[in-house]
Amino acid sequence: MRIDIIAVVPELLQSPFQHSIFKRAVEKGLASVYFHDLRQYGLGNYKQIDDYSFGGGAGMVLMIEPIDACISALKAERNYDEVIYLTPDGHTLNQPMANALSLKENIIILCGHYKGVDQRVRDHFVTKEISIGDYVLSGGELAAAVLADAIVRLIPGVLSDETSALTDSFQDNLLAPPVYTRPAEYKGWKVPDILLSGNTPQIDAWREEQAYKRTEERRPDLLT
Ligand code: ADE
Repeated sequence: MRIDIIAVVPELLQSPFQHSIFKRAVEKGLASVYFHDLRQYGLGNYKQIDDYSFGGGAGMVLMIEPIDACISALKAERNYDEVIYLTPDGHTLNQPMANALSLKENIIILCGHYKGVDQRVRDHFVTKEISIGDYVLSGGELAAAVLADAIVRLIPGVLSDETSALTDSFQDNLLAPPVYTRPAEYKGWKVPDILLSGNTPQIDAWREEQAYKRTEERRPDLLT
């Protein structure tokens, strides 16, 4: 999978992609990520990318020309399955969306900034609008890192223990059960006996029960 990220502050994006999951995915040739600085497509000597909002109001709006120039340059090279715009008024990201996106070949992620982008960008270039939650970030860059992480770790072969993505919270509408590691007792706080029993069917049943209990307590909406 190839991910092209268009951003106003691409510097915000570099570090997350140089470590752990991304690093492994890139090294294994399973994913590649390219950053595009929108300002390089800006207008005139000042490389203008934003302007005042027609009709007035505070905040600058990202202009359509630089975005069109960048997206068109990418589309001239290859086909894209999706052009995703990150915005707090998009569809809230969830695991099924990440699963579906992990099967795509090439995607563009456009990060918003300031008051957002000219609506015509959304109407004519964007195929999916995604929010990473009901709060407002200063820009879409960090949201892009979140989205890309959620997608890339699901690409087959990226996680070393392939089953681990399958037991994540949300993968089956249940939150993940509690986990423990050594020591079996610390300051008198004990690991549940069942996990030390070696009885796999009983351990599986306990985990299922705990996952259900946790979901019922914290996210009853997932069970309906
Ligand atoms: N840009 C600003 N806030 C955002 C959010 N919550 N999700 C996606 N993009 C954003």
